[in-house]
Amino acid sequence: MILNSRSILQMAASALPQDISDAELVGLARTAMKRAHCPYSKFPVGAALLTESGDIILGCNVENASYGGTICAERSAVVSAVSQGHTKFRAISVVTELSEPASPCGLCRQFLVEFGDFKVIIGTAFNSKTLITSTRELLPFAFTPESLDTFEQEKSSAMAEISATTKEHDVAEVSS
Ligand code: THU
Repeated sequence: MILNSRSILQMAASALPQDISDAELVGLARTAMKRAHCPYSKFPVGAALLTESGDIILGCNVENASYGGTICAERSAVVSAVSQGHTKFRAISVVTELSEPASPCGLCRQFLVEFGDFKVIIGTAFNSKTLITSTRELLPFAFTPESLDTFEQEKSSAMAEISATTKEHDVAEVSS
């Protein structure tokens, strides 16, 4: 489901000119939470992902009778967003029915940090407690796409060094 932050703001008659507030994003995560398919754990989770362009993509946990097939709310939102052409995000809010903000699981942290450092607002379904953090903060020492870029760079400089040494060696052999 895509809602534009501007239309939500119009609906909410909010004073904010262009942006959506943390509380509004939490509200949308609560809406998403109501759609959770969680007959096994009975633990609904909702997420609302704010894209760079101001679109909002909702996600909820979708469980499966083959338990390992379950997808968490955060990943469900990201998968939906990417499928719709969004890869840059400003914030995500996540809510559960726990009385304290509940931190995203390890797999979701890895999934989120893939798309850079952005705000994470963790809230609850029934009270206004929030924990504000970021994808990077949630996963220190993360393995990211930059790790693979570094690997490519190191590989090409190693190859360049090998080819320079081979050439020097060839010249030395010819002249001896
Ligand atoms: N769950 C999420 O949706 N997000 C998380 O970060 C943690 C766990 C879901 C998966 C499963 O459907 C239920 O919560 C219980 O683990």
